[in-house]
Amino acid sequence: MSVTIGTPLQSSAFKVLLLGSGELGKEVVISLQRLGVEVHAADRYDHAPAMQVAHYSYTLNMADAEELKQLIQQVKPHLIIPEIEAIATQVLVDIEQQNIATVIPSAKAVNLTMNREGIRRLAAEELGLPTSAYRFADTLESFRAACDDIGYPNFVKPVMSSSGKGQSRVKSFDEVDAAWEYAQTGGRVNQGTVIVEAQIDFDFEITLLTVRAKNAETGEIETQYCDPIGHRQDSGDYVESWQPQAMTQAALEESKRIANKVTIALGGCGIFGVELFIKGDQVWFSEVSPRPHDTGLVTLASQFQSEFELHARAILGLPVNTTRHSVAASAVIYAGVDDHNLSFSGLNLALANPNTDLRLFGKPEGFKRRRMGVATARAETTDQARELALHTATQVSVQQN
Ligand SMILES: Nc1ncnc2c1ncn2[C@@H]1O[C@H](COP(=O)(O)OP(=O)(O)OP(=O)(O)O)[C@@H](O)[C@H]1O
Ligand SMILES: [Mg+2]
Repeated sequence: MSVTIGTPLQSSAFKVLLLGSGELGKEVVISLQRLGVEVHAADRYDHAPAMQVAHYSYTLNMADAEELKQLIQQVKPHLIIPEIEAIATQVLVDIEQQNIATVIPSAKAVNLTMNREGIRRLAAEELGLPTSAYRFADTLESFRAACDDIGYPNFVKPVMSSSGKGQSRVKSFDEVDAAWEYAQTGGRVNQGTVIVEAQIDFDFEITLLTVRAKNAETGEIETQYCDPIGHRQDSGDYVESWQPQAMTQAALEESKRIANKVTIALGGCGIFGVELFIKGDQVWFSEVSPRPHDTGLVTLASQFQSEFELHARAILGLPVNTTRHSVAASAVIYAGVDDHNLSFSGLNLALANPNTDLRLFGKPEGFKRRRMGVATARAETTDQARELALHTATQVSVQQN
């Protein structure tokens, strides 16, 4: 029933293959390493953050079904952890069907969430969860009609995209054609389908980290929740987050109900980042990541077990503890320049306050808006924590070499 962990680099090794080796994966790998798991990390470029802490690393195009299949055959992992969405997910469906490895949290979850259409239809049409009004369009003509139907302002997103790529907020009919053009260049595949969503006029938005993990005694999968995380997005990318986000009891209950329904439907064990919009007692489902969420970096400072440890434990079939010990916040550190081989200074000042901490991800190349690190801070209130985290982030300066 429960997992037996062997010795890494020996024949008894318990092997995990990470598909995508970013900063979130890096923290998951560190948690797995602490439990004696043998870690194999893959990405499309060399020296990605999680590769730097894994036993083995591989550079390949994970969206290429043949390359991906070959890698899985070579590594023979017990678990496969997709950390990004741009993967040949059909390969993972086949792997799961043939019982070759366990896909985390499930091939269905990975397959549905890599495409906004899959997860939106599941949430709104199958599960009946509240979402923004939406239409899909795959030609300029149908897109114009969808925009008029949904009204303005609306949000346009390529169905195959993340981190705000190709997204725009369309304020009037005049902006429709430009939004279409932009969506066609920003998605993972050209000429792709887009979703048009009515704007939700929310008070704030949260990530409800939801963990599906086995009960230590019964072996049954149970659902547990972290305290809600508030966050601020800029151009579809998170810039700061804090925990807990204050909200009404009714909104919290409704958030948990939605998270419970959607994560049960996706299945498997692990952590999910359920994104929700809140207005008073009202809650809308936005989207869900079947993996640690970037806004959840704050849990490195706020919880006994960060979202990364929770994920590592849950996927190994081990018990989890979602308790928060502190009020905390996180603030993103950007490269600010397009260059390789960057240096970071001011760390002594950033860390002078004992309630602050930093992660520098070690990415070999920076872009102006690429996330290179994160600052975290603990304080009495979320406002103070936010202020301290932002201050800490700005004390780190990036230099070109
Ligand atoms: N229908 C909507 N109404 C109001 N705001 C929205 C709507 N859709 C998106 N947003 C805003 O844009 C942000 C990014 O949207 P969304 O999460 O769908 O994109 P994403 O590319 O998946 O971003 P990420 O990968 O950072 O989660 C949301 O967090 C929210 O602030
Ligand atoms: Mg999002």
